[in-house]
Amino acid sequence: MYAVFRSIGAYIPEKILTNSDLEQMVDTTDEWIFKRTGIKERHIAADNETTSDLGVRAAELAIERAGINSSDIDMLICATISPDYFCMPSTATIIATKLGLDKVTSFDLSAACTGFVYALSVARAFIESGMKKNVLIVGAEKLSAITDYTDRGTCILFGDGAGAAVISASDDKTHAIIDIHTGSDGAYADLLMSPNGGSGSLHDDPLKESACFMKMKGNETFKVAVRTLTSDVVAILKENNISSSTIDHFIPHQANYRIIKAVGDALNMEERQVVLTVEKYGNTSGASIPMAINDIYESGRLQHGDLMLLDAFGGGLTWGSALVPFGGKGK
Ligand code: ACO
Repeated sequence: MYAVFRSIGAYIPEKILTNSDLEQMVDTTDEWIFKRTGIKERHIAADNETTSDLGVRAAELAIERAGINSSDIDMLICATISPDYFCMPSTATIIATKLGLDKVTSFDLSAACTGFVYALSVARAFIESGMKKNVLIVGAEKLSAITDYTDRGTCILFGDGAGAAVISASDDKTHAIIDIHTGSDGAYADLLMSPNGGSGSLHDDPLKESACFMKMKGNETFKVAVRTLTSDVVAILKENNISSSTIDHFIPHQANYRIIKAVGDALNMEERQVVLTVEKYGNTSGASIPMAINDIYESGRLQHGDLMLLDAFGGGLTWGSALVPFGGKGK
């Protein structure tokens, strides 16, 4: 059996938080934010909207576009660092119930901004082993719930949203997922973490609302991000004997325009190959790559058989890349 990336969907919450809005909240400027990150605005979920609500909206579209019934889904993975509940139940089980899937294998996956690529690799493994046939992978984040809006080093970066994809079994290799890399190095854990939200928290009250706020050493993270993202995509292209010029869509995690530009330049990517959504969505962690794929689907740029190169990096530290032909129908 081969694993085919069959469909994509996304949900972007209505409310927009602009750089000018942030100027009223912390000591920053629109000019600084745009120059250093490429971000103009980000979307923020409503108070009564949870991460699972965002995930369900994206999943419904992905299922419809895959041309299957939700009852055909036999596994659901939700990549998130902002789950509805931190311990249990998993956000995946909540999404499954809201979709009417009552007997599906479902679980959350924690790999921060690399979560979607990790979920893709797990889906592929279950399908290629013959254990599952249609795996729904969801990247969903309500990062506004774990963002400290008094910390200008992080609050300018993050937004909310969700993306989802159906990965299906096929005996035809033509548009099968070609390769996926995943890796991690916990020695860099302190660069980006929510230090107070769990059993590792020795000082703060892990139950207080701010316990899960993200803290980041931005500048150090930036340097490791450029180095790791570049070396990983160079390796996956080389191992598969694929030239960067044959990639139709280079879809990196949308954290910072300068990181994307540095990696794109190192790969000699042309502007038309690089997918950019960071300006309008900011960094949506596990949702960023599927939201970007959905963007090129919605605009009609993503066509059947197009070759996508995914590249992600995030807290953990974690990283991953994937060579994925689009096995669905273009819009
Ligand atoms: N507005 C104005 N000034 C600011 C702001 C702000 N919002 N934030 C920081 N500054 C100041 C700093 O205080 C510093 O001032 P100083 O020179 O007087 O000390 C100056 O700007 C430069 O700060 P740096 O942190 O060096 O700025 P940098 O150019 O590195 O940009 C940024 C910061 C945007 C956070 C960048 O480092 C970055 O994007 N890092 C990587 C993020 C990332 O990829 N994370 C991984 C994925 S996220 C996940 O997994 C959830």
